[in-house]
Amino acid sequence: MIKLPGLIDVHVHLRDPGQTEKEDFFTGTSSALAGGFTTVLDMPNNKIPITTFEKLNEKIESARKKTVCDIGFYAGSLGDNSKELMKMEQYVFGLKLYLNKTTGNFIIDEKKLIKIFGDWKSNKPIIIHAEEDVIDLVIKAVKKTGKKVHFPHTTNQEQFEKIILAKKNKLPITCGINPHYLFLNKNDVKTLESFALMKPELASKTDQNFLWKNLKHIDVIESDHAPHTIKEKNSDHPPFGVPGLETTLPLLLTAVSEKKLSIDRTIELCFENPRKIFNIKTGNNTWIEVDEKEEYIIDNKNLLTKCGWSPFAGKKVKGRVKKVFIRGKKVFENGKLLVKPGSGRIINPEL
Ligand code: NCD
Ligand code: ZN
Repeated sequence: MIKLPGLIDVHVHLRDPGQTEKEDFFTGTSSALAGGFTTVLDMPNNKIPITTFEKLNEKIESARKKTVCDIGFYAGSLGDNSKELMKMEQYVFGLKLYLNKTTGNFIIDEKKLIKIFGDWKSNKPIIIHAEEDVIDLVIKAVKKTGKKVHFPHTTNQEQFEKIILAKKNKLPITCGINPHYLFLNKNDVKTLESFALMKPELASKTDQNFLWKNLKHIDVIESDHAPHTIKEKNSDHPPFGVPGLETTLPLLLTAVSEKKLSIDRTIELCFENPRKIFNIKTGNNTWIEVDEKEEYIIDNKNLLTKCGWSPFAGKKVKGRVKKVFIRGKKVFENGKLLVKPGSGRIINPEL
């Protein structure tokens, strides 16, 4: 058995309020604990996006009643909420912007990018969903404004090379990777069909190899937990996104057992760097216990996420989360949640 710090996932979509048929704060944070994450940061692309202080408060109140782990939030913008951004800033860990189409139709006009950078008075990171077509534009905006930017979806060689170069040029840029780009590639779409549909799309095997080879340039592993119902995924217009909170750590531990990654680097990517980059203060007397030798097959029926499926179902992994402790209290053991909704904490950067 090995002991690790309670992990931090800086990128989840828990859908609450607005789309609680997919997930809610209780099921989403239960899923986090089952996956070894004791702190999560929730994205603003709700059905009604979190672009005002009022919407942020509604969300915080919903989370307060339901969360079982520590949870923080991001603000959103469509380029028309400078005053609201000022009100929200102290309660969030950063600003999330979308330059490409994805769930929520929450895309900004490229021409507004510099203006929004100016509206964000804070030095907390701006997290930008930027695929290959717009990455140069963002890097230019960073050069011009000096704002801190985090890229959450390193996906393919072309985009990653640009990020690596920008980092070498000492721009204030960090980047994250989602497990699906490390453990799946576009060949998997043949078997998984819409259950492997996400934004950005899965890349080629060559890209996947490039990501593994250059993992040293990645700052954070973030699940991009993006649950949708099975019914929606089977529909004629399936939405983008896959759940990931319960599979991220077992997949990484499997890679550790195969010597593709070290355990120290895993802790850096899933705890130390998220803490530093997003200024997260949780973690006191908080840890997880993992059986690094236990092998099991990922099974949809054991998942705590409300959506009830995983693109990794059927995959054999090595490394299982056995116990989770938050501030000294055992909150999860052997697949069972031990605490009630509302026992987790709302965190904000000032705490
Ligand atoms: C995410 C979602 O469903 O909210 N979907 C996805 O494909 N990754 C949104 C996002 O992170 O782009
Ligand atoms: Zn996302």
